[in-house]
Amino acid sequence: MAKAKKKVAKSKQGVSKKTARPKPRPQGKKPPRPQAPAGAYVPPETFSRRAHVKSMAEYEKLHRESAKNPEKFWAGVAKELHWFEPWTKALEWKAPHAKWFVGGKTNLSYNCLDRHLSTHRRNKAAIVWEGEPGDVRTLTYQQLHSEVCRFANALKSLGVGKGDRVAVYMGMVPELAVTILACARIGAIHSVVFGGFSTNAIVDRVHDCQAKAIVTCDGAWRRGSVVPLKKTVDEAVEKCPTIENVVVCRRTGNDVAMHPGRDHWWHELVAGEKDTCPATPLDSEHSLFILYTSGSTGKPKGIHHTTGGYMTGTYLTSKLVFDLRDEDVYWCTADIGWVTGHSYIVYGPLANGATSMMYEGAPNHPAPDRFWEIIERHKVNVFYTAPTAIRAFIKWGEQHPNKHDLSSLRLLGTVGEPINPEAWRWYHAVIGHKRCPIVDTWWQTETGSIMISPLPGATPTKPGSATMPLPGIFPEVVDKATGKAVPDGEQGLLVVRKPWPSMLRGIWGDDKRFKDVYWSAVEGSYFTGDGAVKDADGYFWIIGRVDDVIIVSGHNLGTAEVESALVSHPSVAEAAVIGVPDEMTGHAIAAFVTLKDGKAPGDALKDELKAHVAHEIGPIAKPKQIRFTGALPKTRSGKIMRRLLRDIASGKQQIGDTTTLEDYSILAKLKESDEG
Ligand code: WTA
Repeated sequence: MAKAKKKVAKSKQGVSKKTARPKPRPQGKKPPRPQAPAGAYVPPETFSRRAHVKSMAEYEKLHRESAKNPEKFWAGVAKELHWFEPWTKALEWKAPHAKWFVGGKTNLSYNCLDRHLSTHRRNKAAIVWEGEPGDVRTLTYQQLHSEVCRFANALKSLGVGKGDRVAVYMGMVPELAVTILACARIGAIHSVVFGGFSTNAIVDRVHDCQAKAIVTCDGAWRRGSVVPLKKTVDEAVEKCPTIENVVVCRRTGNDVAMHPGRDHWWHELVAGEKDTCPATPLDSEHSLFILYTSGSTGKPKGIHHTTGGYMTGTYLTSKLVFDLRDEDVYWCTADIGWVTGHSYIVYGPLANGATSMMYEGAPNHPAPDRFWEIIERHKVNVFYTAPTAIRAFIKWGEQHPNKHDLSSLRLLGTVGEPINPEAWRWYHAVIGHKRCPIVDTWWQTETGSIMISPLPGATPTKPGSATMPLPGIFPEVVDKATGKAVPDGEQGLLVVRKPWPSMLRGIWGDDKRFKDVYWSAVEGSYFTGDGAVKDADGYFWIIGRVDDVIIVSGHNLGTAEVESALVSHPSVAEAAVIGVPDEMTGHAIAAFVTLKDGKAPGDALKDELKAHVAHEIGPIAKPKQIRFTGALPKTRSGKIMRRLLRDIASGKQQIGDTTTLEDYSILAKLKESDEG
């Protein structure tokens, strides 16, 4: 026992102390590993020894080589995957349009499934799924392949083919993964709409991408009750003339209305289908999916990703960042309705032949220890979640994780927003038992895969920093006016200087907006919308959005989208929303609202407006505070001065620069507007 204890202690992740390290080394041996910055958490040696990338020296060499010739680097990665026909050129770059692996033919569904069937992975679990009520399903690579083929054949039987758009509005069931893999198999383009969104969100997205079919479920389990997904789809489809077919997967067993000729039960459709369906060789630049994300104007942006580059990016990053090993059970807690679920539940892990855990429900159902119970039950080794979830765990208390054996964990990750150092330390100590490195991964729907992140066996981590760019990725913090790098330690805009394979190829149907949003702020570079600082050790610290996007519990919400939802209420004349810091959700939405003449403010109306926004967009967009005010602060040109609203909402006595404000008396009125 004493021996075992010692071992654990030795492999604990140490905080580096500059003075404690140097050891004399014999001449002629490898150079000592570069010293970690003071205060950084050094990966445990036991971890590094077995990792894909074992040291900073190795990481630096990889990054240096990728910088010398990024195309060669990425081509080397892509070659690890299956191509029906080789590419003729790794990159064709006509800024801002990139084509990767030009002329190559591949199929991502093939790479996630068929590629493994001739190996020892054939009978390995591809997906281990746990339903909210506690039911468990395991699909081996062979079984998943059969399911995907059957459903691909079913889609074909409905007339869905290459290039057609398929909207997907499902809960977190294995059939959701099956659906997107089936689309990818036949070259149909999937567009997953998060199951927490409302009717209007489906309508907007289906209109924008002109989807031909929708795949849904009768319902989804959420905290013990049924979310009636099919009902929401029915309301949406009434306003979606492009939809020809609706496929309904039975999950919750609630009554649903089936529209004859249009609606089909999943189980009936696949019953007669063969369990083989050859994967269509697709051009590397063939569209894979469209995923909508909020922008600073009202309309969500259809982020467009293609096949070969996205496959290469998610494959490499899953392998290096999560340090995937064949025997791992890897669990990403995101919803497949977001990019994190696309890239790191389905495509990246399966392209690596990993075992990907999938959970259907809420983290606190039936009790706040559900996640820890799942980790213990399935012996999860790698756990990837969001800072907002971690803050909720902290609030619920350590007694919940402490009840469970978490010793299977070897690596932890976070994504979605900056993690505050206290939450990082809690995660490290209480969940990781100071044993597991933490990878704080920065990326976006637009980037397709992780861009800035520690490599767990190599990078010393500083709580709150996503650390350094991955090999093949070249970000910089620049000055807004000059586009030149700012000195270390100064804040600037985060840009990416060179194209990378999994980058978005555009905004669906709107090339002008694509250029305006991402390529006009800093000449020749991709602008991320984030502000950042790079410190003297080369570590990136992401500050947050500099545009009008608010991140609530890791979900991006455009201010304009929420404002237009508010204004669509008959009592509202004008609205301005801002993000205010919130302990639990990172940011919360505060709305300043002016009412139409004759409409009276009051608590009842506040509740009504909150419910209205939830109905229009979804519960995640619900403002936490609503303040009624006589007028909104505007510039002479009529732009709402959100900066001032932010100052007021955060209770600042000193309001920032008001020289451009048109009507000063508004400030006093705003301060009087009551909170709530
Ligand atoms: C934020 C999610 C700090 C950032 C994958 C980015 C982060 C936006 C981090 C993208 C992180 C994501 N540290 N901020 N590790 N990860 N963000 O498109 O502002 O939903 O621009 O993609 O989330 O959110 P999206």
